[in-house]
Amino acid sequence: MESGDGAYITTVEGHRLLDLNNNFTTNVLGHNPPAVQTALHAAIDTGVSFGNPVEAETELARMLIERIASVDKVKFSCSASEAALSSVRIARAYTRRSKIAKFEGGYHGFTDTLQVSWHPHSDGAAGEDANPTPLADGAGIPEVDVANIVPLTQNDWPGTERILRAQAADIACVILELESASGGLVTLDVDFVSRLRELTTELGIVLIFDETVTLRAGAGGLQAEYGVMPDLTVMGKIVGGGFPLGAVGGSAEIMSVLDSGLVSISGTHHGHKISVAAGIATLQQLDAAAFDRLNAMAGRVMHELNEWSMARGSTFSIYGRGISHMAYGFMNEPGLQIRTHRDYWRNLDDDRTQTLSLELANRGFFPVARGDFSLSLPMTDDDITSFIETTKEIVRDIEG
Ligand SMILES: Cc1ncc(COP(=O)(O)O)c(C=O)c1O
Repeated sequence: MESGDGAYITTVEGHRLLDLNNNFTTNVLGHNPPAVQTALHAAIDTGVSFGNPVEAETELARMLIERIASVDKVKFSCSASEAALSSVRIARAYTRRSKIAKFEGGYHGFTDTLQVSWHPHSDGAAGEDANPTPLADGAGIPEVDVANIVPLTQNDWPGTERILRAQAADIACVILELESASGGLVTLDVDFVSRLRELTTELGIVLIFDETVTLRAGAGGLQAEYGVMPDLTVMGKIVGGGFPLGAVGGSAEIMSVLDSGLVSISGTHHGHKISVAAGIATLQQLDAAAFDRLNAMAGRVMHELNEWSMARGSTFSIYGRGISHMAYGFMNEPGLQIRTHRDYWRNLDDDRTQTLSLELANRGFFPVARGDFSLSLPMTDDDITSFIETTKEIVRDIEG
């Protein structure tokens, strides 16, 4: 990429594309938003790195605490991978247990600790549907980390309850995405998540929501829409306004392990002044009207494309809860409900889906190649119309 400007990017070859990748959902205000630029200049002109907290770090923490009901305290890091790692360390210290339950298809960063059972694209190696076994996502992840993971299946309540009850004495936490950002946007049922809240409380397991992506659903995150409070929340992407930042927040009681001296989490650049300045300026722009606009654009894309697709009996669909990050895909059958990550990869027509991504790029749109996309505030109604119409055109070309 050469440059970005509002909702658009320009490639080194000079092609101008509507940015639907948005640095994997980060650029919710588009590129070079004026309010963020101003805040950055002010921050950079007054020294950037002190080895001690700066006022702005406290201000951003306060904003997150005010917005997210389950968050009383915040610890910053440089990325959401680190924030997820921090959440696991806090949970392990609090419970004095070591295993981590996570859902197949869930992504919580690239660390050895958590990049397990993300894309278990092989029945044999990942165990039976009813009894998933942990699988490293790629080489270089030690067996000891893999063995600490207890994989669960999205929306499978009997299986989830059975596994958690059987291994509760060893399980420190359950970490989940309410909507799996990189695994087909499988959405957990509200009822499933409510039951999980009750069960984890009963079993003394720390419940962690990874809202790295879903924080763009609304000021209180997707958890506010679900009406379920986790113990800890992992954050990233939009909270750093396009700069490297991650955060874990949660209840004062569980976060207090950080004050007790029991747990040490530190990093030279954690809560970096430039990142928190960009984060504050970004969150200030994200008021109720901004979230309404983002969600209205998303609803339109989802509704118009899915209605059109159903009417022609197409296998093409838009997936997700209709927040401003969604996925598209061709499936093996029209109108398929995707309930689990295994459902997704068994039914996905990957060739057609990737052809659509490539053709979108050829015709002026830049999604994530695997088939997900996000919207940004500077997008206009005309941008959305042209994305919808071009997608229809390509789907027609592919399906013949
Ligand atoms: C849900 C989720 N958690 C964690 C991460 C890791 O974030 P980062 O790339 O900032 O380390 C990502 C990144 O895409 C993500 O989507």
